Amino acid sequence: MSLLEARNIRKIYGSLKALDGASLVVSGNEFHGLIGPNGSGKSTLLKCIAGAEIPTEGTILLGNRDITSFTAAERARAGLSLKFQITAVLPELSVYDNILIALQANSSLFVLLLSLSRKALHEKAMDCLARFKLVDKHDQLAAYLSHGEQQWLEIAMALAREPKLLLLDEPTAGMSPQERRATGELLAPIKSSCSLLIVEHDLDFIKDICDSLTVLDQGQVVASGPTQEVQNSQRVKEAYLSHA
Ligand SMILES: Nc1ncnc2c1ncn2[C@@H]1O[C@H](COP(=O)(O)OP(=O)(O)O)[C@@H](O)[C@H]1O
Ligand SMILES: [Mg+2]
Repeated sequence: MSLLEARNIRKIYGSLKALDGASLVVSGNEFHGLIGPNGSGKSTLLKCIAGAEIPTEGTILLGNRDITSFTAAERARAGLSLKFQITAVLPELSVYDNILIALQANSSLFVLLLSLSRKALHEKAMDCLARFKLVDKHDQLAAYLSHGEQQWLEIAMALAREPKLLLLDEPTAGMSPQERRATGELLAPIKSSCSLLIVEHDLDFIKDICDSLTVLDQGQVVASGPTQEVQNSQRVKEAYLSHA
């Protein structure tokens, strides 16, 4: 069943067509990669889905709901989470406090007062950190984490909201090959509870973790489907690999 459907998205900046009728479908419990040359519209499409940009035309469905006119905050409540757009890591706070802020952003004050005890909140925070191997660093200032660990903390914060769909825009940019590999391993277990739409430059990384791929070129989808099929399609090799 489709979880997210972006239909015929157009985004025009002045005379530039950043997206020219792009569509994609992400199913439940699916890791979906969005690839394409620089400037092909990947980030713009993620922003349109998250509500950080409003499409000039097109429709976005989450489950059966038309969320096209929802604000970014309403989309977050409906189950979308975009790393980099919601709270970024606060370097002057501890790793633990960063997670706590993300968790509290998820609960209304009412829920916090009534049901989520300090102990429950603490356990949830440690659980989020454990998923990203950050428990040992929970009392360190976030500023002292390595670049890779900061990215993982941001992903953990985005997941603290228990989204149905996590949107990641180039999370492994600037990471070492080891950190990149670890990122794939840390993301894999979330599939049981959450789908992923991920933009990545590193084709090997994305081929390893994604079930399906959508390829953009000049704001249009040139291929979409199971990773293996898309990867072998001649059209994709022409559109994407020639620029890579
Ligand atoms: N806020 C903006 N204003 C004007 N042009 C933009 C804006 N954001 C993106 N663009 C343009 O839209 C095109 C697609 O950009 P983007 O989505 O960032 O591509 P990608 O993420 O695939 O590299 C590019 O030509 C870019 O310069
Ligand atoms: Mg981009």
